[in-house]
Amino acid sequence: MNKSQFEEAKKQNELSYSPYSHYRVSAAVLLTDGKIVSGMNIENSAFGLSICAERCTLFKVYSMGYKKDDIVSLLIYTNRKDSVPYPCGSCRQVMRELMNLDAEVIVVNDLEKPEYFTVDSLLPNSFGPESL
Ligand code: THU
Repeated sequence: MNKSQFEEAKKQNELSYSPYSHYRVSAAVLLTDGKIVSGMNIENSAFGLSICAERCTLFKVYSMGYKKDDIVSLLIYTNRKDSVPYPCGSCRQVMRELMNLDAEVIVVNDLEKPEYFTVDSLLPNSFGPESL
């Protein structure tokens, strides 16, 4: 786990807008140029409009002009010690679209015991751009 990537996700976690669930998630992408881009979950009083930290972060990365080949890894963090922030199904599908299948996904909480996955391992036999 890249230390700056983890520290950035931790800092970004303070910006989580989660007044309804109080579940604070943040994410940080490490790019091939060494830059780190982070985001967090942003909830809405119309609950279905909330966005997860992973999608917020990946959309931010793409809006800055980066593409899948620029992404080394995505780290997902929550400030909790009693829960691990495994990505939801929607975020796994968006990762599959916007990241390479062998890109690394790191899941870690405040116990700082990271678990490592690839996009492919989180969503096996997936449907993606090459399927069309
Ligand atoms: N959440 C994420 O940010 N990422 C996930 O993959 C799962 C859930 C957020 C959404 C909501 O704001 C809160 O966690 C509780 O579901």
